[in-house]
Amino acid sequence: MRVFFKTYGCQMNLNDTETMAGILSQHGHEVVNLPEEADIVILNTCVVRQKSQEKYHSALGQFVKLKKSGKIKLIGIAGCGSNLEGEELIKSGADFVIGSRSIGKIAEVLQKAARGEKIVYLEDDICTVDSKTPRMRFSKHHAWITIIHGCNRFCTYCIVPYTRGREKSRPLPDVLLEVEKLAKNGVKEITFLGQNVDAYGKDLKDGTNLASLIEQAGKFEQIKRIWFLTSYPTDITDKLIETVAEDPKAAKSFHIPVQSGSNRILRLMNRRYDRDQFLQLVEKIRSKIPHASISSDIIVGFPTETEYDYMQTMDLVRKARFERLNLAVYSPRQGTVASKYFKDDVPREEKVQRLNKLLELQKQINRELNMQYLGKVVEIIVEGKTKEGLYYGRDIRNKVIIFSSQEVSEGENVLLKIDKITAGPLYGKLQKKCGL
Ligand code: SAH
Ligand code: SF4
Ligand code: F3S
Repeated sequence: MRVFFKTYGCQMNLNDTETMAGILSQHGHEVVNLPEEADIVILNTCVVRQKSQEKYHSALGQFVKLKKSGKIKLIGIAGCGSNLEGEELIKSGADFVIGSRSIGKIAEVLQKAARGEKIVYLEDDICTVDSKTPRMRFSKHHAWITIIHGCNRFCTYCIVPYTRGREKSRPLPDVLLEVEKLAKNGVKEITFLGQNVDAYGKDLKDGTNLASLIEQAGKFEQIKRIWFLTSYPTDITDKLIETVAEDPKAAKSFHIPVQSGSNRILRLMNRRYDRDQFLQLVEKIRSKIPHASISSDIIVGFPTETEYDYMQTMDLVRKARFERLNLAVYSPRQGTVASKYFKDDVPREEKVQRLNKLLELQKQINRELNMQYLGKVVEIIVEGKTKEGLYYGRDIRNKVIIFSSQEVSEGENVLLKIDKITAGPLYGKLQKKCGL
């Protein structure tokens, strides 16, 4: 049968779609790029905020109509929405629901659904997904590699521990087998993924850690750059910072969500550090890796957040000078401690205003930081083409650079001279092609 995937949410969901698509194509199904070409539509869903949940519900509604008109045969729901809503999704018109730790069983679940069974499968058999599992990669030169599933942190606002379960690291030898396979297939860049990727190995209790994984993965000649996402502040070890500083293949890029600059709010969020510890971490990274790119996430309008708390966040952003900032307004999530015990009391307009002011501040910081790039020559790996037909890629600090050329290919290393900056991407002129 022909299957169309629509993926919402984070990179882990993207990687899960690649895995499910790989398994289904091994079982003789065809993965198609457009819903009009499909017999089966699978929505790989996200529930991190109310809006994310509304998005796939509205898509589900559309697909239910398509199914009624006979254009598609089956609708499946995968991802975090499955774990949160389960049976409810069948009532909303889905034919099957598969949990985020059950993706290895997608072929069996689909087969049952095709026989007319309504099925909700939420078992945790994530250990059946390993380096031997087929994956249909969306990029030729870059690959996502999930190395740790779940989260143990229980930040009071966050739904993820409820949908993705507890932390479970993949054995290091198995991850390396996957890296080896990718290297043989011509992949140059890999990104190790986890909700707390720097907690990798803790649960294995055998000394496995992210720093040694990065070192060992770098031994494969073909692999040129190694990234990792997302880091929990207190799980970043000195050894990890040292490895990133010294390993030429380790991208000089840390994504470390801070969430708030107010100690009071951080405590209510159950984040286990304070603003000074966070700023010291940023300092430490910059002292060892002067050009490190540090990015972050912030939630504004958390319950009881006052103007003073918010000013503390603004102040932290001014001090940390992030390369990139993902901002979100607080969204109560069913079942979390914050939604049960804290009143969502910051008015909507106030939240939006706080978000916009932070956006402005970050834009200004971005412009200042990007100015330093002007006139410099940087090496990037080509990632693809923009809608306007220009090429783009990123340097080892995760900076996106756009340029025009007639003759480069995806995965190629090129040197660019930066001749224009914005608060977002940079623009450059091709200087030299360094080959694939
Ligand atoms: N594991 C990562 C983040 C995972 S969720 C970490 O610890 O930081 C991605 C981002 O979504 C979070 O960093 C947070 O900023 C945002 N987020 C999570 N729950 C949210 C909520 N209830 N309301 C608004 N934003 C939320
Ligand atoms: Fe959510 Fe906190 Fe876990 Fe990140 S660390 S996934 S924000 S509970
Ligand atoms: Fe969303 Fe689940 Fe990722 S809630 S952000 S898809 S872990």
